[in-house]
Amino acid sequence: MTQSLTKPILWAVVLAAWMAGATSAVAQAAGEWKDSAEIWKASCHYCHDEGVGPQILGLHLAPELIRQTVRNGLNAMPPFFPSELDARELAALAHWVSVHGVPPAKEKQP
Ligand code: HEC
Repeated sequence: MTQSLTKPILWAVVLAAWMAGATSAVAQAAGEWKDSAEIWKASCHYCHDEGVGPQILGLHLAPELIRQTVRNGLNAMPPFFPSELDARELAALAHWVSVHGVPPAKEKQP
């Protein structure tokens, strides 16, 4: 019963987050990013630090898994194309995420 309700709501949240972020993601093209932290802030943060996607910073996931997931997408996570993140940027981002420590806890949890 609750299961059938939570699914569409989750999708609406994911879609809204994606559309809100889409503009900032499109504003930068491959080759124009300053560094991995900037890519994370513009393209990953609004899902992965806001509870739409799982918290992955501090988990030390394998760079290859990160790279594959970003290129192919995973269920609710959209794929990122080479026009948005080229191979070099994606490799650097995967390394950056892999070695990143646990982010500071939010001051107020929802
Ligand atoms: C629209 C929201 C959204 C955006 C944007 C997004 N993700 Fe995700 N991501 C998700 C969700 C949701 C999952 C969980 C998918 C599942 O397991 O069903 C996920 C899963 C992942 C996983 C797999 C985690 C694991 O434990 O297997 C990695 C790695 C990942 N995302 C990296 C990134 C990176 C790097 C970016 C930025 C380039 C990014 N994501 C952008 C929503 C997003």
